[in-house]
Amino acid sequence: MKTIPVRLSNQKSYPIHIGMSLGGLGKALRPFQFSRSLLVISAPPIARRYARPLLAGMKSAGFHAQLALMPDGEEFKTVRTVEALYRQCLKSGLDRRSAIVALGGGVVGDVAGFVAASYMRGLPFIQCPTTLLSMVDASVGGKVGVDLPEGKNLVGAFWQPRLVWMDLSVLQTLPDREWRTGLAEVVKYGLIADERIIRVLEKIDLSGLRRNPAVIEKIVSRSAGIKADVVSRDEKETRGLREVLNMGHTFGHAIEAVTGYKTYTHGEAISIGMCAAGRLGVALHSFGNGDLERLKTLLSRWGLETRVRKALPRAQIIRAMARDKKVLSGQFRFVVPEGWGRVRVVKGVPQTLVRQALSEVGIS
Ligand SMILES: NC(=O)c1ccc[n+]([C@@H]2O[C@H](COP(=O)([O-])OP(=O)(O)OC[C@H]3O[C@@H](n4cnc5c(N)ncnc54)[C@H](O)[C@@H]3O)[C@@H](O)[C@H]2O)c1
Ligand SMILES: [Zn+2]
Repeated sequence: MKTIPVRLSNQKSYPIHIGMSLGGLGKALRPFQFSRSLLVISAPPIARRYARPLLAGMKSAGFHAQLALMPDGEEFKTVRTVEALYRQCLKSGLDRRSAIVALGGGVVGDVAGFVAASYMRGLPFIQCPTTLLSMVDASVGGKVGVDLPEGKNLVGAFWQPRLVWMDLSVLQTLPDREWRTGLAEVVKYGLIADERIIRVLEKIDLSGLRRNPAVIEKIVSRSAGIKADVVSRDEKETRGLREVLNMGHTFGHAIEAVTGYKTYTHGEAISIGMCAAGRLGVALHSFGNGDLERLKTLLSRWGLETRVRKALPRAQIIRAMARDKKVLSGQFRFVVPEGWGRVRVVKGVPQTLVRQALSEVGIS
């Protein structure tokens, strides 16, 4: 068990509890001054497996806990789903001191968080992430929101949870592909802030990791800790510090967008994006050729790709990169590695180097 603090201003600080049991959350909520009514928001495949122990624990801690389900999947991360959930909040008799608990991956967390941020002008919110990606990334940091048909995450808010509660045993039922997508982010944390994570990942494979709770706890707590630290220093992304978390993402988001979000999971695209960022690092003399090879070997070891599966038109990728909301005032900004565990943000990268980085991953 481990607790990591997210330190924020205005009494918004909160703990991330790692290695807990779902059944224990109810008791942990008792010291808060919440109303008796609680609403757990989840999706059917997750609720089927994990809602019962969570609700039972809440009930025995004296809460009247109800469950609201949204359909599973990114295509339901919409305003429409949010509206249906507002109605459930009303039906469940929530008041302004009732808490909303998200039980699920990043999709459920983002939607439930947005409901919590806006229903009755904001209710207390608790994150109970169930995917590796949501444990190391989405559940920490307070970004919540939904997609529009025109683009991902276009509607949202900053709404910090009061508590993040992680039961690592739920990862046992996570499909391999979802493990890999989370692991791409774990590699990212290693690359931007802690080479020790990289060394751990170099010594184990997925079936070994699944069977080793101590190593799972180590990589989750280190990764969530790095995110917590960055968020603590730049809560609302106004100081440019959160930008380092975008290593590999400018390239990766463009690959996702050009392939219509259907071919690659987020982590698969980020894996390829990190290789492109690595090549940019080599071109800018902050990362060695040997370092890039080490990165590619590690990603391949985890079944992550280092090149696109099928040729993609370079012009489209560049256009998609220019549309990415991380591009400030028309200039490309890239996060590039500076060795292992350090990164820098570079502006005004010449087009020739961007093209070089893209051809590294099979886009030319
Ligand atoms: N708010 C943020 O800061 C932030 C950061 C990163 C990503 N995100 C968002 O997170 C979303 C992606 O999250 P995700 O990768 O967790 O995907 P997801 O929420 O779609 O979950 C992936 C799949 O895994 C299933 N699942 C979840 N937990 C399971 C378990 N324990 N066992 C078996 N199956 C399980 C889900 O039902 C789903 O089908 C995206 O919408 C992305 O925009 C948000
Ligand atoms: Zn990401």
